Amino acid sequence: MEREAVLVGIDVGTSKVCALIGEVSRDGRLTIMGHGTVPASGLKKGVVINIDQTVRSIADAVERAERLSGWKIDRAFVGVGGQHVESLNSPGQVAVTGHQREVTREDVNRAIEVARAVSIPSNREVLHVERRGFTVDGQEGVKDPLGMSALRLEVETHIVTASATAVQNLSKCVAAAGVKIDELVVNSLASSEAVLNETEKELGVGLADIGAGTIDLALFQDGSPFHTRVLPVGGNNVTNDVAIGLKTSLLVAEELKVRHGTCDLRAVTDDEEISVSVLGEDAGRTVSRLEVCQIIEARMRETFELMHNEIRAAGVGMLPAGILLTGGAAQLAGAAELGREVLQMPVRVVAPSGIGGLVDTLLNPSYSTAVGLLQWGAASLGAGEPTRYESAPARGGLGRLRDALRSVFP
Ligand SMILES: Nc1ncnc2c1ncn2[C@@H]1O[C@H](COP(=O)(O)OP(=O)(O)OP(=O)(O)O)[C@@H](O)[C@H]1O
Ligand SMILES: [Mg+2]
Repeated sequence: MEREAVLVGIDVGTSKVCALIGEVSRDGRLTIMGHGTVPASGLKKGVVINIDQTVRSIADAVERAERLSGWKIDRAFVGVGGQHVESLNSPGQVAVTGHQREVTREDVNRAIEVARAVSIPSNREVLHVERRGFTVDGQEGVKDPLGMSALRLEVETHIVTASATAVQNLSKCVAAAGVKIDELVVNSLASSEAVLNETEKELGVGLADIGAGTIDLALFQDGSPFHTRVLPVGGNNVTNDVAIGLKTSLLVAEELKVRHGTCDLRAVTDDEEISVSVLGEDAGRTVSRLEVCQIIEARMRETFELMHNEIRAAGVGMLPAGILLTGGAAQLAGAAELGREVLQMPVRVVAPSGIGGLVDTLLNPSYSTAVGLLQWGAASLGAGEPTRYESAPARGGLGRLRDALRSVFP
């Protein structure tokens, strides 16, 4: 396999930090060479609240991936989460200036600059300016206007922004762990790279990465994102409810949820008892499985209702390819069934696929963001015509990416 580049992705999640090292071949295939996942303790709902703890988690994850692969991590694509992530759609229009009135790359960049010039408060950082499509002399739906004869060029962009301070704190932690940042990528768009295909994005599809503390949501139509949001709920809320409802520790509640929980109450009878050892109590005790699952179902129903409201607020009734669930908490039994009932759309649980190498544990919904960060990096390699707009101090392209690592054992 001829190597195009070696890339690194780091998903700094509420419950875990995952660092992946991957090799991209010339034909775009991804082979995982190193993997380190460690529990995270310095984050709350996807946002850094303790610098030292977060630095330690990132450094530990990186060190594990390095040891496994024999490579030294120098720079990485890093995921951004948290409720502070927001998006808007902005158009930009310019006159085509070349003497032959043919659209040039410069016209495209000027149109994007105009779209980007919407007023964004100084406490926000622009993470992405995705081109959704072009209108050329009134003709809508043009994907690539380069070389077309025209007087007027209009671009529609999807702009994702985040709290500048939240981004600074994350960047600080990554830097303190000894890693430079290739690009900050919003979690939902990273996960989308790992689990959505082009047909789904064309038809209209939603990606919901249900993690420990948040849901990373991205809605696509005509091939590109038009709504990106983070909802401040996740699997931890379910566990908390179980712990409170049954007066158990979080540890016990988590085990009850993962091993015995479902949000499909039809699959539970009222005579099922589960014995638990409650911390601080000598004797084991039993709880009703139905009671556990009723608590889980109620919280998950509310979670899907939140999602439903968000999708309606985005102005879409129906996404033909439905909602694809991923993230660790999407593994809860019955999640897709309940999702379908509440969202009134097709709902499936999806995990990363189509990757090679050290994939044993990675083909699991928990790793969509981490794998997607590598795929995002791979997609921004090589392609002669960049599909993504790069702002002025953009990453330096292939040369720099090739140097993402240096081999410890050459
Ligand atoms: N088999 C399972 N069934 C149900 N829930 C599960 C299962 N395995 C993990 N979870 C839940 O998944 C959540 C962790 O998911 P994930 O690893 O995607 O979170 P994260 O990326 O660290 O968090 P976030 O994206 O919110 O910052 C936890 O709430 C955990 O309880
Ligand atoms: Mg996550």
